Amino acid sequence: MDSFLIRGGTRLKGKIEISGSKNSALPIMAACLLGEGKTTLKGVPRLSDIDSMSKLIGELGCHVSRHEPPANIAEAGEPSLPALNGPLDIEVTDENMCEARYDIVKTMRASICVLGPLLAKRGKAIVSIPGGCAIGDRPVDLHVRGLQKLGAEFRTENGNIVGEVRGRLKGCRMYLGGAQGPTVLGTINVLCAAALAEGETVLVGAACEPEVVDCAELLIKMGAKIKGYGTPEIRIEGVEKLHGAEHRIIPDRIECGTFMIAAAMTNGELELKNCNLDHLIAVVDRLEEVGVKIERQNGTIFVSSNRRLNTVEMTTQPYPGFPTDLQAQLMGLLCLADGMSVITERIFPDRFLHVGELNRMGGRVRKEGPTAIIQGVKELQGASVMASDLRASAALVLAGLVAKGTTRIDRVYHIDRGYEKIEQKLVAVGASIERVKEK
Ligand code: EPU
Repeated sequence: MDSFLIRGGTRLKGKIEISGSKNSALPIMAACLLGEGKTTLKGVPRLSDIDSMSKLIGELGCHVSRHEPPANIAEAGEPSLPALNGPLDIEVTDENMCEARYDIVKTMRASICVLGPLLAKRGKAIVSIPGGCAIGDRPVDLHVRGLQKLGAEFRTENGNIVGEVRGRLKGCRMYLGGAQGPTVLGTINVLCAAALAEGETVLVGAACEPEVVDCAELLIKMGAKIKGYGTPEIRIEGVEKLHGAEHRIIPDRIECGTFMIAAAMTNGELELKNCNLDHLIAVVDRLEEVGVKIERQNGTIFVSSNRRLNTVEMTTQPYPGFPTDLQAQLMGLLCLADGMSVITERIFPDRFLHVGELNRMGGRVRKEGPTAIIQGVKELQGASVMASDLRASAALVLAGLVAKGTTRIDRVYHIDRGYEKIEQKLVAVGASIERVKEK
């Protein structure tokens, strides 16, 4: 378990290239189980969660291989880190296996994304039930309900969801929302299954996140007939077969938002390359209200701040609202604002493990149910803190960058799950971060 030692107080200045989206790449890799022939994915980041998904679909009979980066890129001076990632080829070579084992599912909840593709293509799926996690209770009832409506039958057996389909799945009109609104991976699971179902499926209350759109675009390239993706009503006309395709994963909007907040916190000036600011409209809106300057030129964003930060009130919401995956990082920023801010977490009401750690660094944050009240302070101080989940850990890295003195963050494997080479990217723009390997 590695740790980070961060010496705070440096102003970030320079260019960072944003990687491909983890949350888009993971379900898209699972969707490749649906195809016949090779699918080539460009822009897949190198992350431990991607390794886990490669292992999982590998056990399910896929051949997964990464191309070496083109020689001309590797030789061209100092290429950016994401440019060094060669495309990933995925080809199904054996369709006999149908089980996602607990060992893999427990490390990565996105494993649930194989459920829909396996049922649609192989007629059977055994997926270990994902347990709770650091950000709260995370049920999969909506995934199961949606697939049941398409005709799959389910039972639970020894901690596994066992699903079977007699014949072919059948399209229907269904409502997919739950108590907390739409489900991102649930929408993708049902969308993938419906792509091979008989007849038309209409998903009402579907998630509109860019990751859903990215997966729908891959499926269309594979031969699926889908309309309305990116809206709450998706229409899918099932086809009998899907083939391999080539696809580039969208930029990681959460990584981009995290670096935007890093620039704001350190009074810095960052040029973020390979971004899609349209995916971050609510984030830009809130950051501008805080006083952050954001400009865009094609796929590049320029972010700067003069560190007089205004307070805001913000609620996390499904897309296009402010994403829960940037709530912790925004809280880190608001710890330094001029007065009191309020954050309400509507997607995962218990996603507040970072509160105690930010307070150890001198923050003044009080939690009341799904709401955090943040009293801005003049400065944060370095401390030993613990990474608890991916985004909470990112918030601690940002706090460490601006804190007085040294911050030690333990258990950074959480960060490695979702931020590609975060310390190299930050060091390149002036941060002082050292990875300490556990002996
Ligand atoms: N929900 C249910 N039943 C279900 C599924 C979800 O009640 O069957 C609830 C959840 O408990 C939550 C809400 O619905 O309250 C929304 O959850 P959603 O299903 O949308 O979350 P997810 O698809 O499992 C993805 C991301 C998360 C991100 C959420 C919300 C991936 C791999 N994960 O999870 O990302 O927070 O959408 O945007 O795409 C992260 O990257 O750190 C992360 C946690």
